[in-house]
Amino acid sequence: MANNGLTGSASRAMAARVCARILRDGITAEKAINEIDSSDSRDQGLIRAFVFGTLRWYHRLQWQLDQLLSRPLDQREVELAALMRLGLFQLQWMRIPDHAAVSATVAAADLLGKARTRGLVNAVLRRFLREAEEFQRALQDSPEALYSHPLWLLEMVRDDWMDNWQEIVTANNEHPPMWLRVNLSRVTRREYMLHLNEAGISASTVPGVGPGALLLEAPQPAGSLPGFKEGLVSIQDGAAQFAAGFLGIEPGHRVLDACAAPGGKTAQILETCVGLGQLLALDRDQYRLQSLAENLDRLELQGTLRHADATRPSDWWDGEPFQRILIDAPCSAVGVIRRHPDIKILRRANDMEEIVLEQAKLLRTLWPLLSVGGRLLYATCTVLKNENHYQIERFLRETPDAHAIRQKFERQIMPGEANMDGFYYASIEKKH
Ligand SMILES: C[S@@+](CC[C@H](N)C(=O)[O-])C[C@H]1O[C@@H](n2cnc3c(N)ncnc32)[C@H](O)[C@@H]1O
Repeated sequence: MANNGLTGSASRAMAARVCARILRDGITAEKAINEIDSSDSRDQGLIRAFVFGTLRWYHRLQWQLDQLLSRPLDQREVELAALMRLGLFQLQWMRIPDHAAVSATVAAADLLGKARTRGLVNAVLRRFLREAEEFQRALQDSPEALYSHPLWLLEMVRDDWMDNWQEIVTANNEHPPMWLRVNLSRVTRREYMLHLNEAGISASTVPGVGPGALLLEAPQPAGSLPGFKEGLVSIQDGAAQFAAGFLGIEPGHRVLDACAAPGGKTAQILETCVGLGQLLALDRDQYRLQSLAENLDRLELQGTLRHADATRPSDWWDGEPFQRILIDAPCSAVGVIRRHPDIKILRRANDMEEIVLEQAKLLRTLWPLLSVGGRLLYATCTVLKNENHYQIERFLRETPDAHAIRQKFERQIMPGEANMDGFYYASIEKKH
């Protein structure tokens, strides 16, 4: 890792700029990082670690910063504040000697055009080092800082999961493992494990998780996975790999994947469901639909793709019912915070009502397109009950021909459970 000299401070200045862009413009961390123009992969890796780390611990770092500053920074100083949080992050979570972290962070202030604040950055970081123990003790008084989540979200998770909300939010702050989905239309899981073995990559199967799922011992760049470019494998969390199994697709079935992009579940269905009649994959986001198309090309799979709003079937439906419908609904994504810590910053409490209404609209408008005896699988990557259990309860109450045929028609996977992301599935069938 580059952690000193010019490269060290340049990486920190770049990371502070990226964090500021996320906070100021509300774009995702992935998008902001992809905008960086750096050909050096070591720099990229370090900047990524800085950005994701400071986002993961944002609420704690900001709480510390508020106390370390004798008066608040001007609101326009978004980059400077981001740099100070980054400095505090390094002192607590990165294996960089304190003096090197402080001096590279102070030097980064110059690169941000803030040379006059060098003394302030230095003083804040050094005071934190002196008072680290007091800060640690005081954490207990601030749940927002202790769990590094916004208060509104802590309250929502606590209201839904009285007994284990702390486990959920703690798991949200962990580093996520890497899962693979073997393309079973091209290679068996056993064969692919041999390829991994030859490449010196350790992986294991996890009982009960999808037939193509493998959990890697350590994350790897996609490009170093054997046969990745050739489409033998994809990256997909274990929790997302239940979809094809829960759908129970039979030969000849017509399947609708209503919220399909970037196509992890679309591809899994095409890889595993032999004799499938037709798969129509919709997404209303053209850019994401393009990545779905690229993913299917790489995997040598074929489906029918449409850029369309699923809640407006008159624009795209030919009137033929579907035997299976998958609604992998847009959601708060509280189950995947460990992968996307920016969710804790970008998501707002007042987004929730709109998200829940959109999910209900998808269920309501797509239900009539399901054939009698057909099955609809509703999925989200959240743990909030208003989007999951209560959403489905309301739908079942209002829809006379919808029923949960089996006793265990729903499954809530908690973040961290068997190393998986948080996910929810409910299978609903249409009565004869
Ligand atoms: C959770 S993501 C889907 C992930 C995908 N199924 C996978 O496994 O890779 C939700 C997707 O729904 C799309 N979406 C949201 N509302 C939609 C609508 N009304 N019609 C079609 N697509 C929609 C979003 O653009 C987003 O790509």
